[in-house]
Order: sequence, then structure tokens, then C-alpha cells
Amino acid sequence: KIVPVLLSGGTGSRLWPLSRELYPKQFLPLCSDRTMLQDTALRVSSQAGSTLAGGAADAVFSAPLVICNQEHRFLAAEQLRQSRCSPRGIILEPAGRNTAAACALAALAVAAEDPDALLLILPADHEIRDAEAFRRAIAIAVRAAQAGRLVTFGITPTRPETGYGYIRRGHSMDEADGAYNVAAFVEKPSLEVAERYLAEGTYAWNSGMFLFPAARLLAELERHAPAVLAACREALDQGSRDLDFFRLDAAAFAKAPSISIDYAVMERTDRAAVVPCEIGWTDVGAWSALWDVGNKDGEGNVIVGDVLLEGARDCYVRSENHLTAVVGVENAVVVVVDDAVLVADRSQAQDVKRIVDRLKAEG
Ligand code: GDD
Ligand code: MG
Repeated sequence: KIVPVLLSGGTGSRLWPLSRELYPKQFLPLCSDRTMLQDTALRVSSQAGSTLAGGAADAVFSAPLVICNQEHRFLAAEQLRQSRCSPRGIILEPAGRNTAAACALAALAVAAEDPDALLLILPADHEIRDAEAFRRAIAIAVRAAQAGRLVTFGITPTRPETGYGYIRRGHSMDEADGAYNVAAFVEKPSLEVAERYLAEGTYAWNSGMFLFPAARLLAELERHAPAVLAACREALDQGSRDLDFFRLDAAAFAKAPSISIDYAVMERTDRAAVVPCEIGWTDVGAWSALWDVGNKDGEGNVIVGDVLLEGARDCYVRSENHLTAVVGVENAVVVVVDDAVLVADRSQAQDVKRIVDRLKAEG
């Protein structure tokens, strides 16, 4: 059985002023008329699972496990309810301790009931345009995971992005056609190294989605990140359940070192496998990514809301509750919400985070 684990703990600061601490991007309808959390849940709903191709008949999705900040518990619960998705549970983090801890929590919670379960780790802020192709990739990954592998989904890189992990593909796996051994996993390389990987052509981006056999992940965490595992175990043992919500013990969870699953396990394990896939994947990290995935008019503009353009090209313009007009501008991002306006060059959309940092520092 596949248990989708929806990682919903990010703050989305590069999507300011729309994404806010109390209402981060995964809870917003950024790529469709559903929120990113809802789209992520629907992509792996039990109905979707019944169409899983590739002969993996046992590869059906069970109810998802959601892991989010406790501040967002009602947002998460309400949005899932609207999508008619009843989660297996919602684990509430008093404060985020990064993805190694979140994955450890999922493995501990699920393995306690079902040691043979496969965890499908899904960040709740990714866009996947070809959900069918994604489910075909999952069917391949299932066979690799059943052979005891920690499976990643590899994306063909298109630029020397330094914010991603890079995977060098090794020999193809005997047990799973379409899956490969991982020869090297390098998280967030320098620009120089990323450029070299891109030129070599044998590297894929790590999508940040994984298929982990729960028991195998626990063994690898025990080996490579025992302090994370111990803190998560204690936080669950001393936590409490309240309907769908599971509250972690804050003091115990605070002891977990903050490290990502990529650094903690994927770079170190010798049991990694990769399924290369073409699924129309985008990490919706910044406004420039929303321009990338958006539907463009004849001049390359993506507009959302009440917007008038005259002579604008290759712009992303989003306007809420206001009429916004843009004239004669190229490659701009313009985002208007009730209490703030952002105007940025599309190529520098990452730097919006600096504004958010300044706003935080200035209180
Ligand atoms: N619940 C919870 N708790 N979720 C979290 C936490 C946490 O403490 N920290 C991060 N997440 C969620 C984020 O919201 C996001 O959906 C996902 O986990 C990944 O975290 P990021 O912080 O966005 O990671 P990254 O983008 O730097 O790198 C990862 O993703 C890349 C692809 O987008 C890595 O896996 C890279 O190797 C990968 O290329
Ligand atoms: Mg990310």
C-alpha cells in the first residue's frame, strides 16, 4: 500500500505579497482553481490510484498523511474536506524541523500500523502537469521500493539551478525496469559544479518527491541521522491525538536537528534509486515559476485577475480586488493584493525573499 505523505510546512516567502506566514503558498490557488495542497492530494487520491498502470496492481493509494505547522491546522483540514479527502491524520509541528524530521515522523507513525507500507513523500507546493505520467513513474518506483530502495524521481535539468539536488544515474536495476541505481547524489551544488553537471548530461534534478519503504527509511535514519529519529520518536510518544490532529510534544521535537532528508539520508545512503520521468514538474518556488507554468497570451504575458495590458511582453501580472494596468513593460512581475504591491524583474524574482527578511527584521 502507498501512503501519500503531504509535506505542507513551508512558508513560501518568495511568493510575497500573496504568500504570508499565516497563509502560505500551499494553501493558495496558484496553478489552478484548487489550492496547491488540494491539487497534490487529488493527484494521489484513491480514485487516481485505481488507474495506476504498469502492472503494479497493489500500488493503490491509501488516505494521505499530512504534516504541517500547527498554526495551519484548520486551513489544512478544511481544504482537504472541501476536496472530499479524508486524511489518515494530520501531524502538527510546533515549529518546522526540516524534511528529515518530517519524513521520520511519517515513517514512525505509519510503520507502527503497517511496517510494509510505502511512503510517497510529496511536497505540497509542486506543480505536475502530467499526472498520468507521474502515476506511471510511481508504478515503476513501487517495484524499486519493494526491492528495498529509497526511490527518487529524476527530472531532466534545463538550467544550472543551485537550489536543487543532482542525481547521477548508475546501472539500471534488475528488479525494476525504468529504475536506476544512484551513482551519486549531490544536494545544492555550487554554480560551477551545477554547470558541469548540466554539460555532462548524465545528471537529473532531484524532484524532492520520494517513495520510501517505511521500515527501510527508519533503518537508514537510524544509521545516518539517529538524533533526528530519536527526537521524533519521543515527540510522537509524548504527543497527543485529538480527532484527525496529532500534536507533537514540543520540547521533544525541538531537540531534532534541523536537516533536510537530502543531506541527512539521500546523500549518504547506498540504497538510493532513481526513476527518470517527464511529468511536467515545477517547484513553484518564486513568481518566475508561475510565469513558466502559466497560460500565456500572444505576447507571452500571464495574467490573473482584473488586469489590463498595453504593449506589455513576457510579464506575470496578478491583481486581487484592484484593477491593475501595465503599459509598455517587459519581463516584469506585478502582484497586487489589498495591502501591498510587488513590482520586480522576472529574472530577479528569487530576491523577493530579501524583502520578506527585511520586513521580518523591521517587525
Ligand atoms: N511539514 C514540513 N516541515 N514540511 C517541510 C519542512 C518542515 O519542517 N521543511 C520543508 N518542508 C516542505 C516544504 O514546504 C516543501 O514542500 C518541501 O518540504 C521541500 O522543502 P524545501 O525547503 O522547499 O526544499 P528545497 O526546495 O530547498 O530542496 C528540496 O527540493 C528540491 C526540488 O524542489 C530538495 O529535495 C532538493 O534536492 C530538490 O531538488
Ligand atoms: Mg522547495
